[in-house]
Amino acid sequence: MDWGMQNRLAQVIQADGRCLWLPVDHGYFQGPVKGLEKPRRTLEPLLAYTDAIFVTRGVLRSAVEPDRAKPIILRVSGGASVSGKELAHEGITTSMEEAIRLNACAVGLSIFVGTDYEHDSLLNLARLVDEGERYGIPVMAVTAVGRELKKRDARYLALACRIAAEMGARVVKTYYCERFEKVIQGCPVPIVMAGGPTAKTEHEVLQFVYDGIRKGAIGVNLGRNIWQSQHPVAMIRAIRAIIHENAAPEEAQEIYESVKSGGA
Ligand code: 5RP
Repeated sequence: MDWGMQNRLAQVIQADGRCLWLPVDHGYFQGPVKGLEKPRRTLEPLLAYTDAIFVTRGVLRSAVEPDRAKPIILRVSGGASVSGKELAHEGITTSMEEAIRLNACAVGLSIFVGTDYEHDSLLNLARLVDEGERYGIPVMAVTAVGRELKKRDARYLALACRIAAEMGARVVKTYYCERFEKVIQGCPVPIVMAGGPTAKTEHEVLQFVYDGIRKGAIGVNLGRNIWQSQHPVAMIRAIRAIIHENAAPEEAQEIYESVKSGGA
């Protein structure tokens, strides 16, 4: 692996081999979702506890100060919306030149395995990887399920993750699921976990983050379960403890409760 690629990966994946990435890209197809109406306000208290942020160029330029930014993973796919017919009909929306101009450490694109747009999204990924490899920029593939949340099972996710890795993604983002070890075993590149819609309890999130890390995920790219929480800073600190300090879910819950009630 060339120096630039290694250096960029080392900025987003910490020396312990783990990562906590904070996605705030949801507006690119969902508009101003709850908790992310004003991205700057959402991000500011959380930046200190993230290893990188996953963001579009629009939110990056308008809501993140260049001199206070964390490493950037740039969302470079889009072109569909929740009010349109086909969420899966995405293309590449941001050039590699723009990613370099923005000093991105990685770029991220969604693939839609099993949909009518499977072929297009996989070729988009392959093209992006070709360009990323040319300039030393790692590509994160996002195994998107759109509205079909029921697709989040080990068989489907193992298929999607493996295909993403075969296309050359350096990292794959997917969902935690039952028999998650099958997904990990079948994927030769590191996996990070997304959170999905906000869970009923904090404990549920802390438990799956813990289980996923134990089964081999290197970290999370987890948004709504942090910034839609009643206490986003408490939540991100609890998750950080699991990822970087090997805290058990119960210890992380204590951190959550303590920060929530004003503890340091
Ligand atoms: C949305 C994304 C998000 O980055 C991803 O879904 C993670 O966020 P969440 O934890 O809220 O699911 O790709 O387009």
